[in-house]
Amino acid sequence: MCGIFGIITRDEQQLGPLLIDAGRRLSYRGYDSVGCATIHRDGKIDLRKDAGKVDEVANRLGFSEMTGSRGILQLRWATFGAPSQVNSQPHLDSDGDMVGAHNGNVVNNVELRQQFIAEGMIVRSTNDGESCVHAVERYVDRGMDPIEAIRHAYQDLAGDYSFVIGRVGEEKLYAFKKGSGLVAGLLDGGAVISSDLPSILPLTRRIVRIEDGEIVTLTPDGITIHGVADGQIIQREPELVQETMEAAQKGGYPHFMLKEIHEQPVVAGELLHLLDASPDVNPIIEKISQARNVYLIGCGTSYHACLAGSVYFSRIARRVTIPVLAPQFIAQYAPAVGPRDVGIFVSQSGETKDVLNAIEAGKQRGMGIFSLVNVVGSTMTRISERSLPLACGYEISVPATKTFTNQVLSFLYLAYRLAGLDTASLAVIPDLMVKTLEAVSHQVQALEPDFHRWNDFYCLGYGLTFPIALEGALKLKEITYSHCEGMLSTEFKHGPLSAVQDGYPIVFVAGREDVPLIVSGINEVTCRGALAIAIGEADPRLDANAQKVVVMPDSGDSNIAALLSVLPLQLLSYHLSIARGFDPDFPRNLSKTLTVD
Ligand code: G6P
Repeated sequence: MCGIFGIITRDEQQLGPLLIDAGRRLSYRGYDSVGCATIHRDGKIDLRKDAGKVDEVANRLGFSEMTGSRGILQLRWATFGAPSQVNSQPHLDSDGDMVGAHNGNVVNNVELRQQFIAEGMIVRSTNDGESCVHAVERYVDRGMDPIEAIRHAYQDLAGDYSFVIGRVGEEKLYAFKKGSGLVAGLLDGGAVISSDLPSILPLTRRIVRIEDGEIVTLTPDGITIHGVADGQIIQREPELVQETMEAAQKGGYPHFMLKEIHEQPVVAGELLHLLDASPDVNPIIEKISQARNVYLIGCGTSYHACLAGSVYFSRIARRVTIPVLAPQFIAQYAPAVGPRDVGIFVSQSGETKDVLNAIEAGKQRGMGIFSLVNVVGSTMTRISERSLPLACGYEISVPATKTFTNQVLSFLYLAYRLAGLDTASLAVIPDLMVKTLEAVSHQVQALEPDFHRWNDFYCLGYGLTFPIALEGALKLKEITYSHCEGMLSTEFKHGPLSAVQDGYPIVFVAGREDVPLIVSGINEVTCRGALAIAIGEADPRLDANAQKVVVMPDSGDSNIAALLSVLPLQLLSYHLSIARGFDPDFPRNLSKTLTVD
């Protein structure tokens, strides 16, 4: 996830060390490139940037010697344009007297670049941060002052983003927020602006939180806020923030896992914007529709997303696909694949060795290689013919949460496109995610006593909720250190039923259409003493049969309901982990990225 930082001071000074420190503090967000710009009173802009880590690039390019009265730092997490020197931020405008950087995604970047080039502007990169600079330049060149220019640029820039921008010849910085985080801080004789609080806290605790649709002007005397809609000044008093750095990085949540669970609505919305604008979706859809066999390949959580994707492709687009664990793909299918087959490889990290091995095996047989990966610039994105980003930003917690939901959402989106359906109807998902998290948080916390004395339980689903049950069971295993088996609900009677004793907890994830079958499963276990906990939309049949019901909001759509039903399971595993005194972010023995066979 990109990060921006800007500072203005009354006097020219060596801003480099301060910008490097801000970069280090932003680096927990994840990034692949780093850049700094300082602006001098004499009209000179010093711009240094490249792909790489903060300390390495800063040493190589001598950031620490950079001076000026204004400075901008950016850490880039590649989405538009590969990680490279030219795509690193900040960016200059055409004649080099304005410089800026952004955080977030400008989803009409490709169209905007074409317009800027046609209008005679100098466009140097394929990165969408540069589009923010040119979008402002476009109106400054028509004679508007920067605030007016930003108000017009806002009409042109689609997506969720924030940016900071500075021009030579005036002692000001400007920043704008739409969708991505932005926080301002007041210094004695200056001001700072940043994507997040932790990068500001060591400099000042006098903070102004910026809202969507607000333009901030920073001067050595403080900040002024204008509304983008009407240009009117907005008054807001600074607050005195007491949080520690670590608490601030967690955004007020006690753990990264809980923060990342609650980030799901935002990243889902961003993903849908990105997919709408992606030039890679149509070619991938075409390959899927023409292929002989389509394999969906991953490990762990990513494999569960493949299972869900396979159900979506069959049910929505009538396209049979084969979900398979990466090592089993090598053992079972690789000898039989060829150039008419397509593999969609799914990974959070893009570095899982088991998956890379499977790609290699498919490549050797000429299979088409496509991927869904969160870490842009990772090995998988580089060796795939085409790769769709999951657009989740950095996922710090070892148990995957937001990357899973965006993997499943990517498959849902692709299935819709393959079926020729309008993906606009998926736009309800972020809002439904918010409602689901609100509705289920307390309900799942209240379940803790039901699991208290057990180190062994089951999580069952059917149809679309089968992969969700597997994912819920994996989360429970990962961070509660209990044995939790995920299973097709109808299989439970074929053996596991013997485990049932008084109070034995069994979670049933009930899809909208599968309630009668789930109710049968519930009765098979409750009549033998089990404690049945149903998760599903409000349904009197669940109330009448299960001892406990976690009620989710009505989604009106079984495909969407299944995706939402992983949220209570994520929260359940989180709360059980906390109740047992474990650290859900860093469970014992596990690694976020497994680069070994
Ligand atoms: C490890 C992690 C799992 C993850 C799996 C696949 O085992 O602990 O959480 O699901 O790798 O990782 P990937 O990065 O390929 O999605």
